[in-house]
Parts: sequence; C-alpha cells; structure tokens
Amino acid sequence: MSIRTVLRMGDARLWQVAAPVREFGGVVLRELLADMRDTMQALQGVGLAAPQIGVSLRVVIFSVTKSERYPDAPEVPETVLINPVITPLGDESEEGWEGCLSIPSMRGLVPRFNRIRYQGYDEHGALIDRTVSGFHARVVQHECDHLDGVLYPQRIRDMKNFGFSEELFPGRDAVDE
Ligand code: NI
Repeated sequence: MSIRTVLRMGDARLWQVAAPVREFGGVVLRELLADMRDTMQALQGVGLAAPQIGVSLRVVIFSVTKSERYPDAPEVPETVLINPVITPLGDESEEGWEGCLSIPSMRGLVPRFNRIRYQGYDEHGALIDRTVSGFHARVVQHECDHLDGVLYPQRIRDMKNFGFSEELFPGRDAVDE
C-alpha cells in the first residue's frame, strides 16, 4: 500500500467530526488500514487517526512496542479501533507530554483521564472492550480526539507548556506521535 501525507494543523479537515464506519471487512476499510499502518510506521508514530490522512471516518490505530524511542513507555498492543466510545472511570486526570504527527516538532503538556474503558470494533467487526490506565489511556484519548476534530493544543491548560521539543527538551531526540 502506500505512505500517505499527514495533514498538519491548519488544514481545516482536521477540525471535522468524522463519520462512523458502517461496513466491516470491505476492501475500502482494508486499504485504508494498510495505508494507515504504512504511514504510521514510516513516521514512527505511536498512533494515527484516519482524519489525519484526510479520511473522515472513525478509525484509529495505535501501537507501542518497547523501543529506543520510548524506553520508559509501557507497551500498548497493536490495535485497530473503529467507532470507539470512551468512558472515563473516575474523574482523576493526569498531565503528560504529547506530540502529534499533525503538529511536527512540538510538544505540549496535556491533561487526560487516568483510567478509561474503551469500546469499539476491530477491522473484522469484532468487539473490543478494554479497561486501561496511564500511557495506554492517554494514547487512546489522543487518537480518539482526532475523530471529533480536537487537537491536543486545545486541551493544554497553560500555554507555557507548549513549544518546540528541541527547546523544551534540549538534547533529546525529537520525535512525533
Ligand atoms: Ni495526533
């Protein structure tokens, strides 16, 4: 399949609310997911939402393996999540640094619910129902925000905690997720 161009903040398509997937197992969905995987891998992302490649459907993928890039990050299983619903469990939230492939070279400190349940479907239409916390929960909330046209800078409480990674974290490898 192919590596697609990731839309960057400023492109109006990133503000759209994406439509639910109605048909599973078809060639359109299969090709979309192949492109999303190729694109995410090529850019070494942690996750990607379909609207980021200009497809306004409620589809996200994410995966965190133990890597050089995130030595401290807990692993998150490779997941295709379609038509997701997130339910926060408790109102405890936690701030953490995030980046986004649509906002290259930047980082922001973003509050997210610490513990969530998420439900949705995989590419075959099988139900996914997980209760997760911490980094896994953060990744899911970030990716699903894209489906509602929300980018992480909108959630930053103090804009002093938004900037170029090179300035915020001198000497550290600049990566985008
Ligand atoms: Ni993002």
